[in-house]
Amino acid sequence: MDIKFTDSFLWGAAISSYQCEGGNFNADWFTWEKKQGLEEALLACDHYNLFNNDFELAKKINLNSLRISIEWSRICPDQYTFLEEEIEHYLRVIDSLIKNNLKPVVTLHHFTNPIWFADKGGWSDHKSIDYFIIYLRKITEALKGKVDTWLIFNEPLVYIYNGYIHGIWPPGEKSIKLAVKALNNIIKAYMIGYKEIKIIYKDTLVIPNISLTKNVRVFSGCDKGNFGLNSFAAFIRSNCFNFWLFDYLNKKKCLDFIGLNFYCKEYTKFQFPFGRECKNQHHKERQNSLDWFISPQGFYDVLIKLKKYKLPVIVMENGTSESDESYYEEYLTKHLKSLAQAINDGVDVVGYFWWSLLDNFEWDQGRKGRFGLIEVDYNTMKRKIRPFANIYGKICIQNRLSVK
Ligand code: BGC
Repeated sequence: MDIKFTDSFLWGAAISSYQCEGGNFNADWFTWEKKQGLEEALLACDHYNLFNNDFELAKKINLNSLRISIEWSRICPDQYTFLEEEIEHYLRVIDSLIKNNLKPVVTLHHFTNPIWFADKGGWSDHKSIDYFIIYLRKITEALKGKVDTWLIFNEPLVYIYNGYIHGIWPPGEKSIKLAVKALNNIIKAYMIGYKEIKIIYKDTLVIPNISLTKNVRVFSGCDKGNFGLNSFAAFIRSNCFNFWLFDYLNKKKCLDFIGLNFYCKEYTKFQFPFGRECKNQHHKERQNSLDWFISPQGFYDVLIKLKKYKLPVIVMENGTSESDESYYEEYLTKHLKSLAQAINDGVDVVGYFWWSLLDNFEWDQGRKGRFGLIEVDYNTMKRKIRPFANIYGKICIQNRLSVK
């Protein structure tokens, strides 16, 4: 079977400011790295200075869209200052995307906060909503002439889980009470932000497309130990982390499309209250260099479940980190086949973004994660297109895929 994608299908890649730009010393992640003695992002990929070059490479690969994020802490280093020169920087970034025929998709919050915001209690403080909305207004006003697709938050549940329950990301809390408060505030900020952006675009001819991204995994009980309890934990994790937020926001009519981030399957072990991930090598799927279980079938299964929302779906992140080049190609082609199959079976997928355009700073894992279509030599900051990116590029330009 030969699947032809729609002419407007978005073939892209995604990046985020903190992970690529470098020099984000006003972000809470910067102080967190120091406090925890973690590998530091520092210059990251120096994308702040090399963005033109990076977008030219994206164009060379044949992408037609790119997902970036704005660094709140760079624009707003203290509560009362908006640095116009930094807003102008992002205007240049967007202009460069457009010049390279890359449709911009912009994320407003990709895990990092300004230090002043964190010091005031971060997302668990009710004022967080107001602070965020001021920033959201400022940016969407500035970019509305050039951008029509917005992601207000990236993976809020991953942020809350790692920052407020597991405690491995800033603010490093392990408190369900704070987690609930912070999540409530983020959801409120999302819904207010959604309406605000619609209002801001009223005087333009453009109808903005607004959503967030959600990480979705397929969960399965680990068969070592008590399989019954482990399966129960997998059930709990699937219910807590997978679809309820899409359900809720869709009911509130504030999702214009579904922003899906899919990477892998998770085997779960029982542990109170939310279970825990099992990364042991006794499961049947292949593991990537970060020990994630690769599951193209899981990708198909998740896409099929999204049909019920009756909304367009954009795969906003899908990708892998490998130590062997051939596995990138295998991952990409198998996942694209699942995607094509899902489209054929009636899921309205309108875009696919590989994570990531560049190798970049993988949060608490430092530079160990190598997700890039483009390899980065961190000593020289030289870029090299990986061979599998050319295979992706061919699919992008032909806009079709054969599924056997
Ligand atoms: C996040 C990225 C991260 C990627 C790989 C996604 O969930 O949005 O920031 O680098 O996963 O771990």
